[in-house]
Amino acid sequence: MRRKKALITGISGQDAAYLSNYLLKKNYIVVGGERKKNKSNLWRLKALGIQKKIKIVSFDLQDEKAISKTIRDGKYNEIYNLAAQSYVDKSFENPLYTSDANALGVIRILEAIRKYSKKTKLYQASSSEMYGNVNTKSQDENTSFHPISPYAISKLHAHWMLGLYRTAYNIFCCSGILFNHDSPLRGDEFVTKKIVRDLLRVKLNKLPCIYLGNIYAKRDWGYSLDYVEAMWKMLQQKRANDFVISSGINYTVKSFVNEAAKNIGFDLKWIGKNLLEKGIDRASNKVIVRIKKDLFRPLEINSTFGNSAKAKKLLKWTPKTKFKKLVKIMCEAELRKYD
Ligand code: NAP
Ligand code: GDD
Repeated sequence: MRRKKALITGISGQDAAYLSNYLLKKNYIVVGGERKKNKSNLWRLKALGIQKKIKIVSFDLQDEKAISKTIRDGKYNEIYNLAAQSYVDKSFENPLYTSDANALGVIRILEAIRKYSKKTKLYQASSSEMYGNVNTKSQDENTSFHPISPYAISKLHAHWMLGLYRTAYNIFCCSGILFNHDSPLRGDEFVTKKIVRDLLRVKLNKLPCIYLGNIYAKRDWGYSLDYVEAMWKMLQQKRANDFVISSGINYTVKSFVNEAAKNIGFDLKWIGKNLLEKGIDRASNKVIVRIKKDLFRPLEINSTFGNSAKAKKLLKWTPKTKFKKLVKIMCEAELRKYD
C-alpha cells in the first residue's frame, strides 16, 4: 500500500513534534513546514529523535505564493495546520500580524486546496480561546463564541472559513477546538512551562523568585501527547466535522503552582491579596512567588471547561493523562535537564 503523505505546518512547535512522531509510527511520510529564520529551531524534533525522518520545507502563513506552490506540488493526503502566532498575550501587542497569520494564513491554505488539491484533507488548530467568557458550565461544539482577544478573533475567523469551504466547496476540513494542552515540549513563555522552569531555578538558587499575573484564571489542561491523537482521528472520519478536545476538569493557575512546587520540593503557603499576594516556602520562609501587574492581560477568560463527549462518541478518544500526572511529567522532565 502507498504510504500516506502529510504536511505539518509549524513544525518547530510543541504539537507538531508529538504529531510527527505519531504519524511516523503510522508509517506516514511526514513533511514539516518551517518559516524561514536566521537559525532553524527544531530542538523538539531532536528531543524526540525524529529530526532526520522529516523533510523540512519552507512555509510561512503570510506567503501566499509559496503556500500555493507547496500544496500544489506536494500532493499531500493530509495537512495539519498547526502554525500560528499562538501567544494570547502577544496578540494584544500585535493584532495585525496575529490576524494576518492566523486568519488570512488559513484562507491562503484553503484557497490552495480548493484550486490545486481538492482531495487533500485539512486539520485546523482552533482554540478554546474562541469561546471567551461564556456562562455555560462547560463548552462544547454547540456553545456560542464570544472571543475576547485578537488571537481568539483570528482563530474564530479561520474556524468559520473552514465551515464555509466545507459546505460551499465540499473540502474535507476539520476544526479541532482544543483546550490548553501542555508538555515538557511547551514553549517557555506559556504559564505551565514558566512555572515549572522557574520554580526549579529558584530551588537551585539561580533565580530569586518567580513573577506571575492572574493566578485565579482557571484552565482545562491536558497533555499534548494525548491530544495529537485526536487530530489524526478527526481526519480518518467518513465526514468532516468539528470537535472539542479537552480534559473536562479545570484548575486555577495557583493550583498548578502548588502542585509543581510540591514536585520540586517546596511547600507553599499564601499570604496577602491582589498584587501583594505571595507564595512563601514554609520550610525556609523564603518568598517564592510574587504577582506582577504587567503580566495581567487587558481582557482575560476567567475559566475554560471543555466537554469532549462528541469526540468520545465518534472518535473513541478520551484524554489519558490527568492534571497531577501532567504536572509531574513536566517537573520530572525539567529536573532531568539539570541531571
Ligand atoms: P507553538 O508551540 O507555539 O507552535 C506554533 C508554531 O507556529 C511554531 O512552529 C511557529 O514557528 C509557527 N509559526 C508562527 N508564526 C508562523 C508563521 N507566520 N508562519 C508559519 N509558521 C509560524 O504552538 P502549539 O502549542 O504547538 O499549538 C499548535 C497550534 O494549536 C497553534 O496553532 C495554536 O494556536 C493551537 N492551539 C494550541 C493550544 C495549546 O494549548 N497548545 C490550544 C488550542 C490551540 P516559529 O518556531 O518560527 O515561531
Ligand atoms: N503566559 C503567562 N505568563 N500566563 C500567565 C502568567 C504568566 O506569567 N500569569 C498568569 N497567567 C495566566 C494567563 O493570564 C492565562 O489565564 C493562563 O495563565 C494561561 O496562560 P498561557 O499559558 O499563556 O495560555 P493561554 O490559555 O493564554 O493560551 C494557550 O491555550 C490556548 C487554548 O485555550 C495557548 O496555547 C493558545 O495558543 C491556545 O489557543
